[in-house]
Amino acid sequence: MSNNIFTDTLKGIKRERPPVWFMRQAGRVLPSYMKLREKYSFREMMQNPELAAKVTLLPVNDLEVDAAILFSDILVIPEALGMELKFTEKGPVFDTPLQNTSNQFSELQADVSKLEHIYKALDIIKQEKPEDIALIGFCGAPFTTFCYMVEGNSANHNFSKAIKLFYNNPEISEKILQKITDLSVEYAIGQTKHGIDVFQLFETHAGLIPSDLYMERILPHVHRITNAVRTAGVPAIFFPKGLGTGIAHINSETADFVSIDWQYSLPEARKLIDPKIGVQGNLDPRILSIDDKKMIEKELNKFKFFGETNPNWIFNTGHGLMPDNKVDNVKFVVDWVKNTDWKRD
Ligand code: CP3
Repeated sequence: MSNNIFTDTLKGIKRERPPVWFMRQAGRVLPSYMKLREKYSFREMMQNPELAAKVTLLPVNDLEVDAAILFSDILVIPEALGMELKFTEKGPVFDTPLQNTSNQFSELQADVSKLEHIYKALDIIKQEKPEDIALIGFCGAPFTTFCYMVEGNSANHNFSKAIKLFYNNPEISEKILQKITDLSVEYAIGQTKHGIDVFQLFETHAGLIPSDLYMERILPHVHRITNAVRTAGVPAIFFPKGLGTGIAHINSETADFVSIDWQYSLPEARKLIDPKIGVQGNLDPRILSIDDKKMIEKELNKFKFFGETNPNWIFNTGHGLMPDNKVDNVKFVVDWVKNTDWKRD
């Protein structure tokens, strides 16, 4: 046992309570982030290593979570492949999405120097973070990154152009996926060299294709990334949002932990997943926008029995925190997790 409840839980060591953190905790709901955001754009904060390190550590201080997640974005990979990206009011937009495929995709050229500032941010975070707080690195999983690169933006939640290309031209799609994966592997290894304690792979749009097809055409790419990280001695968490019963195919070959979306019953998901791996999740983040803490507590209490009987569980939301979540509700959840008696002797 160490003083780090997060890394202990990842290693399978039974601790007195589950560790707690939130996807999208760095930004969005924190008044301290909003204040910085008045002065700097999202890109400025992401690209300046001192500012990125500062934002990464804000939730550790303001929310008292057990882990800090690097402040960056999954779309740094397409950018480092040469695609022009803008973060607008309506979300990320690529000037020239990969819709005219064949010749366009062959122009994708990895420039790893575009990721250097992120490694610098990790070095600073590593120096400044408290010892008992875990540092989470991350990357977008290949299919979600593919969806953004082909669609060009997230205005159409069906990503219909990307899905059409995926079905219509498997060969080109596979080549794009390979380019994404090659660079993601290098980037993930780079993060392990700069001291991350754990790595999370975000497959936000896994649910856009049938889960059998996901296993066939995407999971091998996922394995290349998670294997690289795990070979470097860093545990991997995989978040395949919307994969449904496909999670039954996720085993210890894929990751150390799997993050469950809020649509799923956590105990049901647990039954489907390889007992050798742990689970993370899965409070519905939208409940953190209401006023009545009693209603939130009612939902939290549903996790009690699960937490008493499952020490290989990390508490999180079932997707990222939302812009209208209330910060005092988020803090309430952290306190609830920390103050609950999990009866784990
Ligand atoms: O979790 C964290 O707090 C760490 C940082 C982080 C961001 N994005 C910061 C961000 C992480 C892990 C991501 C991952 C990410 N980015 C995903 C996968 C996870 C998920 O939530 O589904 C996806 C699909 C993206 C792409 C992306 N980046 C979108 C769709 C948007 C715009 C809408 C939105 O969700 O805010 C972004 C911008 C972005 N990424 C912001 C932040 C804090 C908002 C920037 C701002 O302040 O305007």
